[in-house]
Amino acid sequence: MITDYSQILIVQEVSPRDGLQIEPTWVETADKITLINQLSQAGFSRIEAGSFVSPKAIPALRDGEQVFNGIQRQPGVIYVALIPNLKGAQRALAANADELNLVMSASQTHNLANMRMRCEESLAAFADIVAFVSGSGVRLNGSIATTFGCPFEGRIDEDRVLQIVDAYQELGIQGISLADTTGMANPRQVDRLVRRVLQRVSPADLTLHFHNTRGLGLCNVLAAYEAGARRFDAALGGLGGCPFAPGASGNICTEDLVNLCAEVGIPTGIDLPLLLKLSRGLPDLLGHEVPGQLAKAGRNCDLHPMPT
Ligand code: COA
Ligand code: ZN
Repeated sequence: MITDYSQILIVQEVSPRDGLQIEPTWVETADKITLINQLSQAGFSRIEAGSFVSPKAIPALRDGEQVFNGIQRQPGVIYVALIPNLKGAQRALAANADELNLVMSASQTHNLANMRMRCEESLAAFADIVAFVSGSGVRLNGSIATTFGCPFEGRIDEDRVLQIVDAYQELGIQGISLADTTGMANPRQVDRLVRRVLQRVSPADLTLHFHNTRGLGLCNVLAAYEAGARRFDAALGGLGGCPFAPGASGNICTEDLVNLCAEVGIPTGIDLPLLLKLSRGLPDLLGHEVPGQLAKAGRNCDLHPMPT
């Protein structure tokens, strides 16, 4: 039972969206629904359950409507949909998504590769989306992809990120996610930028989205947490990646993150044994091994018999 909410680390599970979007093998709609229903029992307050993007861009998630309409919604869980444009917002609202995650990159080049539009066009589309959802009760979150580095442009100016935060807030987008799309962040950079962003955004509205592409994912989580961030995206098994970013690889792994928190005494409210069970089912579902480490090693308390 969690009593100290100032310390809690909130995990948004993103495997059904970021995790599956890059999978080469089609995952049946029924299997996606089963996965989300199982994740809904694990104690997450938020699950990114899919995206409403062009089916040509991301064929793996082309069944967003069926998925959102097929899941059993657990009371208290917010089911989030990633969207790029007004058409995505219309589809997501029709499918009763609780929150829309609007995505634009800090770098022009990655936005062109990923969204096939310039940042100004993305922002104009977001203004239309804000107007469209107004009064519906649906929440809005704005993600800034390539915040900590871009695979085409390299370093991203921190002031550029802060300008996008301001632009999102001026549009009326309350939640902000800083996304490290291809794992280019380092802990010192994370500490600096999170402290600056928290002068504009409350910890309850700020999410950090790290990929473990260069092995620094959990180091960056701890740096962000120490700097005051409390919300983090993670994917079961460490699945994930943006198909429009060269060299992209998995999100930080949810069960590895929850284990880190358990070991250092940060409350998450998440059922780690259940996560391990679900993660160990992923190779069968996807036909390949997954990057997460804890599912292979077991927890520190999972001891072995001494050899005879
Ligand atoms: N949902 C479904 N279909 C959509 C759509 C949406 N949100 N947005 C556009 N489309 C369709 C259009 O209707 C059109 O269909 P048609 O060819 O049958 O007429 C087609 O996609 C092209 O539309 P257009 O507006 O010209 O889009 P585009 O080809 O310039 O692509 C995006 C722009 C944003 C739709 C596309 O790049 C995209 O979906 N990107 C998302 C990528 C992603 O999810 N990355 C990982 C997450 S960060
Ligand atoms: Zn991602």
